[in-house]
Amino acid sequence: DAGKSGYDHYMLKEIYEQPHAIRECLRGRPQTIDESITIDELEDLPRPERIHFVACGTSYHASMYASRLFRERGIPATAFFASEYDVDAIPVDEETLVVGVTQSGETADTLAALRDAKKVGAGTLAVTNVVGSSAARETDRVMYIRAGPEIGVAATKTFASQQAALAMLSSAITGSCSREFVDALRALSDQMQSILDDSSAKEIAEEYVDSDAYFFIGRGYNAPVALEGALKMKEISYKHAEGFPAGELKHGPLALVTERTPVFPLLTSDANYEKMIGNIKEVESRGAPVIAVTDAEERVEPLADHVLRIPKTDRRLTPILMNVQLQLVSYWVANRLDRSIDKPRNLAKSVTVE
Ligand code: G6P
Repeated sequence: DAGKSGYDHYMLKEIYEQPHAIRECLRGRPQTIDESITIDELEDLPRPERIHFVACGTSYHASMYASRLFRERGIPATAFFASEYDVDAIPVDEETLVVGVTQSGETADTLAALRDAKKVGAGTLAVTNVVGSSAARETDRVMYIRAGPEIGVAATKTFASQQAALAMLSSAITGSCSREFVDALRALSDQMQSILDDSSAKEIAEEYVDSDAYFFIGRGYNAPVALEGALKMKEISYKHAEGFPAGELKHGPLALVTERTPVFPLLTSDANYEKMIGNIKEVESRGAPVIAVTDAEERVEPLADHVLRIPKTDRRLTPILMNVQLQLVSYWVANRLDRSIDKPRNLAKSVTVE
C-alpha cells in the first residue's frame, strides 16, 4: 500500500500522475529556438514513404490517433492490430517504417508483427515505456515515452504519454511544427492538472452507475478516445460499453440506445462540431442521457444533461485532455461497484502469448 501514496488504487494514483508524466515525456524535445521538435534517439531517421503502426489494446488506440496525425502531415500511415498484421498481404518494404507502440515492450502480438516486418526489410521503431524491453532491444530504433512505472493493469498515464510522444514523433519526422503547436504541447500538463482539480466525473459516475451500457462517440482526432473510453469502462467496471466514430452510430449501434444507456459525445469547436450536435440530437430523441466532454461548454450545455469540461487546446491535442475525464468516469463507476480495479478479472498487464 505504501506505493499508492495515499490513493485507494494504483490506477487513481497513475491518473493523477499524468501532468508529471507529460512533462517528463516532453523534457528536452520541443525546441524553443527554432520551434522544432528534436528526438535525440531518432536524429538520423530518414523520412519513410509510409508508416505502419502495430499495437494492441490501448496502444492500438494511441496508434489510431498517431496515424491520423501523420496522414494529415503528409505521410500515409495506417494503424493495425498487431495480431492482424500481415506482411504478405500488404506492401511492406525498405521504404516502410513499422512502429510498434507498446508500453510494456513485451506484448507477444506486437513483437511478432515487428519481427515479421524486419524480415521483409522494413525499418522498425519501438515507442515504449520500458527501457531494455524486448521491443526496445529488437527494433532498429527506440523512442521512450518516459511515463514512469505503471502498476494498474488498465493503461492510463502510458496512454497520455504515448499520444504526446507520437504527436512529437509526427512533428520530428514530417518537419511540420509551429510555435503554437509547441506552446500547446507545453500547456498540456497544467491543463490536465486543472481537469483533475475540477472534474465532476465522480458525481456523473454516481448518477449513472446503474446504467445498462455506456456509449462513447467522437469524430476525427476524438474517435480513438471514444474507443479508449469504452475499453477502460469494460476493463475495470465489467459493464457493457462501446465506442464508435460518431458517424457510425446510425448504422447499427443506435438500435441499442435507450434511456438506460448514457452517451458520452466528445466534441470540440472544430470542423466536426455541427455533425456532432446532430449525433447528440439522434441519441437524445431516443431518451439517452447525454454527458458531453467538450471545450465548448456554453454552446453544448443547453443540449446536454451534463458537461465534463476540458480547456481549449490545439485541435490535434484535445484527445489527450478528453481522455482524463473518461478515465475518471470509469474509475468512479468501478469504485462504486467495488471492482478489483488494479487487477481486473481475466486481464494481465502484459500479454506474452499470441
Ligand atoms: C494488455 C493490457 C492493456 C494494454 C495491452 C497492450 O492487454 O491489459 O492495458 O493496452 O496489453 O499492452 P502494451 O504493453 O503492448 O502497450
